[in-house]
Amino acid sequence: MARRSGMFLLLAAAATLAVVAGAAVAPSCERIECPAYDVVDGANGFEIRRYTDAMWVSTAPIEDISFVDATRSGFLQLFKYIQGQNAYNETIEMTAPVLTKVAPSDGPFCASSFVVSFYVPAKNQADPPAADGLTVQKWAGARYAAVRRFGGFVADADIGQQAALLDASLQGTKWAASVSDGGSAGPVSYTVAQYNSPFEFSGRVNEIWMLFDAKATSSDM
Ligand SMILES: *[C@@H]1O[C@H](CO)[C@@H](O)[C@H](O)[C@H]1NC(C)=O
Repeated sequence: MARRSGMFLLLAAAATLAVVAGAAVAPSCERIECPAYDVVDGANGFEIRRYTDAMWVSTAPIEDISFVDATRSGFLQLFKYIQGQNAYNETIEMTAPVLTKVAPSDGPFCASSFVVSFYVPAKNQADPPAADGLTVQKWAGARYAAVRRFGGFVADADIGQQAALLDASLQGTKWAASVSDGGSAGPVSYTVAQYNSPFEFSGRVNEIWMLFDAKATSSDM
């Protein structure tokens, strides 16, 4: 009997730990390098992560009505960069995820603005090459992300819906205020993270990230 309740306690402890540990890292990250993060909190449908201030390489804003088209065009620019079209003619390892920051438009027929980014691998973090038309920079300070994961190939119609679901899952939590403060005025921007190449058809992992600064929540940390 004692043994049984001990087992129960162990299982309960494991269940609690599982929540703190958050969802498993995306399987792609066992094959290619991904930025490191700590899981700060997690609950029904979302996870709060803290990313380091690592270097990322990003496109200029791409105006388009289609997330998929803008991401493809940004991906090609960044792919050329890692293939050696950079100031050092240096080839750089592919990383995951591919991030697309989305600043939605106000109207149905207006272009939205998209910035596509790759994480710079640890090997190149100290001195990543510059390149025409691309920005290589650190995230300003520690960055927090509220994250919702979803599967499949990302379609234009999915991203607004997934962002709304993430937003809804945060309502009533201690994170709601800081996440909404993290966006600028106007339509709320969010980021789509894709972990798989277009040639992987199953087990695809995507995430919606809403980035925010720690300052607003430091009293909760
Ligand atoms: C990169 O390659 C171009 C074209 O081959 C060459 O002109 C340039 O000097 C190279 N730069 C470096 C840093 O190797």
